[in-house]
Amino acid sequence: MNVISLTVWTLENNCFIIYTAMTVCFIAFTMFHKNRMEAHYRRVAAKKKFAPTGAGRERDYPNDEDDPDVLVPAIPEDTPHIPYESFKRSDEEVLKRSREYYELMAKRRTVRRFSTEPIPQEVLDNIVKTAGTSPSGAHTEPWTFVVVQDQETKTAIRNIVEEEEELNYSKRMSRQWVTDLKPFATKPTKPYLTDAPALILVFRQTHSWRQDGRKKMHYYSEISVAIAAGILLAAIQYCGLVALTSTPLNCNSRLRDLLSRPGNERLELLFPVGRPHSEATVPDIQRKPLEEIMVRV
Ligand SMILES: Cc1cc2nc3c(=O)[nH]c(=O)nc-3n(C[C@H](O)[C@H](O)[C@H](O)COP(=O)(O)O)c2cc1C
Repeated sequence: MNVISLTVWTLENNCFIIYTAMTVCFIAFTMFHKNRMEAHYRRVAAKKKFAPTGAGRERDYPNDEDDPDVLVPAIPEDTPHIPYESFKRSDEEVLKRSREYYELMAKRRTVRRFSTEPIPQEVLDNIVKTAGTSPSGAHTEPWTFVVVQDQETKTAIRNIVEEEEELNYSKRMSRQWVTDLKPFATKPTKPYLTDAPALILVFRQTHSWRQDGRKKMHYYSEISVAIAAGILLAAIQYCGLVALTSTPLNCNSRLRDLLSRPGNERLELLFPVGRPHSEATVPDIQRKPLEEIMVRV
């Protein structure tokens, strides 16, 4: 019997065992390879998630591997929990207040022409204090509100914003963007930056530092600052003043330097605040009706 005949004879007589062994080997190899691939993808995902994503951006989540032995909460773990003081209001009262508040907020408009009439310091303090009541990721309060009333500083801010806006409108923004802005009659020149009695610049702290010198992570800092800005706008409306919501494009580093803000802060919003000019106008735009913005489930 030669080698070939022997092989054929062996395969024929032991085919069940041979096929079973091959199947087991195939399954074992597949499982082994799958686990290796999964571990590889996990490592790549973790690197992406925790890697610094460029200048001025923080990691939104902590990397426990940074310091696995010193996992101490940023605020004391034994912070007491106290009873919540609620407003005891009837359904009628709640309904009435919801209507009244809607009516008040529905009148809020972005105003682009301001009166130079000053506003009391305490009003500004209270508006900013109200914004500071905003919720924030893990109570990190990642905001700084710079309130500028000094005329020279307002002029310096205006010069920077106007310089950058010239470039934004002519080179940086898409043609479609510039076209979409036409109904609002926005221009690179911004007299409201020197007319409004106060400018509130909202800076987002990408991270901060604990008392022990360790870095304090700021989770969801972008959305936290956006909520605080919304509360600021509501407070401005409630007290009877007006604001212009603006996001000065490409002005972050120049305004940060001008206002001596640290490198962990990014300018997100600039709100001129005050009273409207007696001849101020607003575009006659409509808001989406409830049926278009709300889905009841
Ligand atoms: C994130 C954001 C950025 C904005 N940036 C500017 C801006 O740079 N300049 C401006 O004149 N208005 C700006 N606006 C105002 C919008 O144009 C305005 O809110 C919108 O037209 C709706 O009008 P209303 O605020 O009167 O309801 C901005 C609004 C938001 C929410």
